[in-house]
Order: sequence, then structure tokens, then C-alpha cells
Amino acid sequence: MVVAPEIRKIGIIGLGSMGAGIAQLAVEAGYEAIGREVTAELGQQARGRIAHFLQRKVDKERMSADDRDAALARLTLTTDLAELAGCDLVIEAIVEDLGAKLALFADLEEVVRSDAILATNTSALSVTEIAAAVAEPARVVGMHFFNPAPLMPLVEIVRAELSSSEAVEAAYAVGERMGKHPVRCHDTPGFVVNRVLIPLLNDCLRVLDEARVSPEDLDTAMTAGAGWPMGPCTLVDLVGIDVHVHASEALYEKLREPRMAPPPRIVAMKNAGLLGRKSGRGFYTYE
Ligand code: 3HC
Repeated sequence: MVVAPEIRKIGIIGLGSMGAGIAQLAVEAGYEAIGREVTAELGQQARGRIAHFLQRKVDKERMSADDRDAALARLTLTTDLAELAGCDLVIEAIVEDLGAKLALFADLEEVVRSDAILATNTSALSVTEIAAAVAEPARVVGMHFFNPAPLMPLVEIVRAELSSSEAVEAAYAVGERMGKHPVRCHDTPGFVVNRVLIPLLNDCLRVLDEARVSPEDLDTAMTAGAGWPMGPCTLVDLVGIDVHVHASEALYEKLREPRMAPPPRIVAMKNAGLLGRKSGRGFYTYE
């Protein structure tokens, strides 16, 4: 596949916490970015979050006010997929639903140039299965960012079965320009980090019941005793309980290892709408 000679404009589809974080990285790295949400209101909310985090950098003298303004000016918003026509790279960060992603990629291929790269930020779905939605799967790669995207240094650059080396290397270069530490890997369930982290977090959540320990004490145990930067309950609340349950189910479906399956306790939390920080309540309560 021939890829665009230079990545100048990046489209981001879905501006939830991951998509907004990726859009922030794109404009901070000097790319033109266009973010697509389903409503203008959701787009504006994402812009507000990005502006807030950039302002914090200005307050801490890590960014000038001029650079903040220039970065925000590089971000446009749309609700219309057709406006992504001029993008060299599009990163999808919508809901973790294979059917929704397949439909989106099929529509997207109708809109973008033939040399545009299409990336998915999926946590645990197969990039190869998503790539099957398009006529030219060589252009599809995974770019898996970690939450919170602006702070976590890693991005996994995932090679699907039919990804071209040109698309993989172009995505890697974008990750580097965003200031990340990219790693290349193949499209296996959970890639690198989630293959290890998801069962580990599920073990932590089972310990809540087995050791009859409180979420606060489990978090203290893992931060003070294992050097984790944040405890497992805080981390699952940050990632989103729905996202964690979905990733666990996707890995369990592919690998059939009992440790991958989400513990019933967290499935019940998801079903009750306790989704962590984004819903205001998970293991902890948030303002
Ligand atoms: N976006 C942009 N900027 C942000 C932000 C966000 N979401 N959250 C915080 N910031 C900025 C803020 O401006 C903040 O400064 P302020 O408090 O003065 O405003 C600044 O970053 C620093 O924030 P913190 O003081 O909270 O930073 P810490 O030093 O405590 O580190 C952390 C925070 C990097 C999140 C650290 O706690 C950590 O590494 N936690 C582990 C996170 C982790 O493991 N993530 C991976 C989850 S798995 C995953 O994502 C995979 C997926 O597929 C499920």
C-alpha cells in the first residue's frame, strides 16, 4: 500500500476520554486534527476538557499561552464523517463494539483518500477482524493508547495480519512525534499490556472478596507493597468499569482462561451503572 508521504492531518473519531486525549496529543505535537463526535455538544465537551488540561500546563509554566492557543486552533470539530476526507491518518476511538467499528470503517473508507491510514484504538478486539470491513486492509493498524492518554508514555502499534509495513511504520512515527514510547506488536488478544494487566486486575478484584479487604486497603496494599502508581480499584475506576468488563470478556472469549473472565462483582457494578469516574461512582465516589 502507498501511504501518504507525510502525516499532516489526523482525524479522531469518538471524543470520549481516550479520543479527547489522543486529539490533545495530536494538536500538541503540531498536527492539524479534526475530531468527530455524534453531537456538537459532545464535541464541545471534549474541547473543554482539552482546553482545561492545556491551561493546567500553562499554569505550571510547562506551556506558553501562545502555544496553548495555537494547539487549540489546530483542532476542529465535526459531526460529519465526510469532513475527514483530507486526513492522512484517522484514529478510531469509539465504543468497544465490533459491529459499530466494522460499520464505521466501511463508511470511513468511502470518505478518505486511498493513501490514508486507518487506525483503531481498540483495547481488546482483533484489529484483523476490524480490518476485514475495508476493501484495502493493508491500510489498517492498531494504535493502542493508555488511559490517561496524554500522561501514559506507551502506545502499542499493532500489526494486523494484512497490515502493510508502510502503515505500521507511519503509525510508529506518529507515536514518536506525539512524545510516546511506541512498541510494535502483532495482533494477538490483548496485545502486550492488556494480555498481562486484565487478568492481573481481575485477580486483584477477586482478592477483595477472598481476603475480605476493602477497596481502600487493597489499593494501599498494591501501591505501598508493590509500587503500583495507583491501586487496582482506582485504576479500574479510571479505565471505566464497562471498558474493563468488555476487555475481560473479549479476552476470555478468545483465550478461554478463567482468569480473563470478569469477576461477577464487577459485572454487577457495570449492570448497575457504576462505571467509575465517568459516572461519578464505582469503587469510589467522585465529584
Ligand atoms: N488528560 C490530560 N491531562 C491530565 C489528565 C488527563 N486525563 N489527567 C491529569 N492530567 C494532567 C493534569 O493537568 C495534572 O496536573 P494538575 O493536577 O496540576 O491539574 C497532571 O496531568 C498530573 O496529574 P496527576 O497529579 O494525577 O499525575 P500523577 O503523577 O499522579 O500520575 C498517572 C497520574 C500518570 C495517571 C499515574 O497515577 C499512573 O501512571 N497511573 C496508572 C495508570 C495506568 O496504569 N493506566 C493504564 C490503564 S490500562 C489502559 O488504559 C488500557 C485500556 O485498553 C483499558
